[in-house]
This record gives sequence, structure tokens and C-alpha cells, in this order.
Amino acid sequence: MRDLPNRRSATMSEEATVESGRSFLVGNKKDLIEAKRISVTLGDRVVVVIHHQGVFYAMDQHCYHAGGSLLNGDIEEINNKLCIVCPKHKYKISLEEGEGIYNASNPKDKDQPPCWMSKGIKQRVHKVTEVDGNVYVTLSVTPGWIESDYYQTEKGRAELKRVKDSEKNKSASS
Ligand code: FES
Repeated sequence: MRDLPNRRSATMSEEATVESGRSFLVGNKKDLIEAKRISVTLGDRVVVVIHHQGVFYAMDQHCYHAGGSLLNGDIEEINNKLCIVCPKHKYKISLEEGEGIYNASNPKDKDQPPCWMSKGIKQRVHKVTEVDGNVYVTLSVTPGWIESDYYQTEKGRAELKRVKDSEKNKSASS
């Protein structure tokens, strides 16, 4: 079994046009199933590819809320939707659509039980295609701004770096 590095960059030579949009070969299906999750940089986008219950999913790796990495988030079924739970502040994001899901309660009506509600699409998801034992991710071409896009911008990346550096400094001084 070939080791899959935790993070890899697809190069131009690994690109393949599977459909419209920009597609990248991310690995061999068997290896990806074994790895369960990988982080990949596709063009200038950081994406997490997940294999869960026989299905591949891909989405921006940095959570729309505050940039937490979704790579190690738990997966839970909420309201009949498989959701990844961001390890940082426990926001829930549907794997299939990138919908932000939250548990809403009405403080004025204590008898009414809380229920799951949608905030709409918050995380950009990408299409995964299998061809001849290989797995490709086609970057989303959904127009308009989706909140997770922020962490793919220069400003968002600089913010992620600042947070990472300050966490490093904190752990070095403790
Ligand atoms: S960064 Fe993901 S929940 Fe806050």
C-alpha cells in the first residue's frame, strides 16, 4: 500500500478535464478509501477530500466561521443530512451541499423543543468523480460569494497564518 501524504499539491500535469470546470486528479480510489480523508491544494484552493460510508465528498478545508480545519472533524447525521462538525467551535456543515446547520430554540417558548435549521450554503463544496479507479475533484463553479471563499483569499490566508503563528507562540511559551 502506497502511503498517501497528508497534504499534497496537484500539479499541472495531474490536471484532467473530466467535465466543465477545473478538474484535478487527487489520487487512486483504493488509497483514498484507505486514507479516509486527505487535504489537497488544487490550484490555489485548499480542499479536504473525504470518503464516508462509500461516498466521496470534497469541500473547502477551512471552515467558513473562523477558518478552523475540517480535516479532522467528526461526521454526524443531523436532520437526515451527513454533516461535518468543525473541531474549532462545533459548527455543523452538510457534506453534500455545504449548508450551515444550527440547532434553534425559541427562548420565549420553553415548551417548544429546539429544532435544526439551515443558514444556507456557507461552505463551498466541489464535485468528486471516479474514472478508471482514479478520483478527480472538479472545483466548484457556483457563481457568487460563499463564506468559505474568504479563507482562499490573500487576506484570509494571512489571517490563518496569524492565528497559526500565535498558537505556536502560545504553546512554545507554556
Ligand atoms: S472555525 Fe469552524 S466552527 Fe468556528
